[in-house]
Amino acid sequence: MSVELPPLAHFQNDEIIRARMQRIDQRPVVMEVRGLGKTFATPGGGGVRALDHISLQIHRREFLCVIGPSGCGKSTLIRILAGLETMSEGEVLIDGKPVRGPGPDRGMVFQGYTLFPWLSVRDNIAFGPRMAGRRGHAVESEVEQWMTMVGLERFADHYPHQLSGGMKQRVAIARALANRPRILLMDEPFGALDAQTRANMQRHLLDIWERVNVTICFITHDLDEACYLADRILVLDAHPGRVREVVDVPLPHPRGPEQFLSPAFLATKAHISHLIHPPQHQAPRPELPRLTPVGDDVY
Ligand SMILES: Nc1ncnc2c1ncn2[C@@H]1O[C@H](COP(=O)(O)OP(=O)(O)O)[C@@H](O)[C@H]1O
Ligand SMILES: [Mg+2]
Repeated sequence: MSVELPPLAHFQNDEIIRARMQRIDQRPVVMEVRGLGKTFATPGGGGVRALDHISLQIHRREFLCVIGPSGCGKSTLIRILAGLETMSEGEVLIDGKPVRGPGPDRGMVFQGYTLFPWLSVRDNIAFGPRMAGRRGHAVESEVEQWMTMVGLERFADHYPHQLSGGMKQRVAIARALANRPRILLMDEPFGALDAQTRANMQRHLLDIWERVNVTICFITHDLDEACYLADRILVLDAHPGRVREVVDVPLPHPRGPEQFLSPAFLATKAHISHLIHPPQHQAPRPELPRLTPVGDDVY
């Protein structure tokens, strides 16, 4: 059974959606990428062209998702934005200043759990502020606030090995936000979680984003996740990673799981799926040997 959906532009032209996108565009640009390219050197020479001519702007408190097939350069891109990887060409600016390396203005959350195993939840979250030389009651009460924000106040004295995957990622988010970054860079942060926990974390991240002055750049290869979270989705092509399209997501806020079945959501998902897996490029179904007797058919 197939359902006829209006084209994505039909939903994007909605007055409320257009007004929202205009408001985002009027906000100051927090991060700008200009003509970014990256070639990895390979032992045999030649090199691997991972990213090519990437340009983008992320406005204050925008939620941008970057989506693309595996190997298209998503992690390379976010590592360059974080200052953890060098670029071959182009530039990355944060608040108009060039990025030269990692800095507290950018918080990172990875898929792999990156908490300090020897520190409690409280001390993991307090790590950044303490490294910045901040001490005393103000920091302690701020850390308490972050634990409440991610719903872990009862687990303050637990260690990472005593926490579930979802709880560890909550700590990772709080730890990144405790440095008060201008932008939160997230590389498939929920990729290792089970479906239920993942859905809870998505909802929770939107709640946090609503309450904290932070801009988010979120990498995923999951269409549902991107459409649910993002204001805009940057779709990347692979080999080399290039910007295919920047898609405005025509879903009103606040978002909720009921939107997963809305026509606007389905049209967005269909549009992006078509960009990433064009019908002419779909792999043919392989010829498999038949291991059941003729007549013993499932259809
Ligand atoms: N350190 C590296 N050295 C050489 N090639 C790399 C390195 N890191 C990534 N690549 C290559 O760059 C491309 C993009 O990788 P990556 O950014 O990890 O993609 P994604 O995160 O989208 O799956 C891939 O072809 C990968 O093999
Ligand atoms: Mg990756």
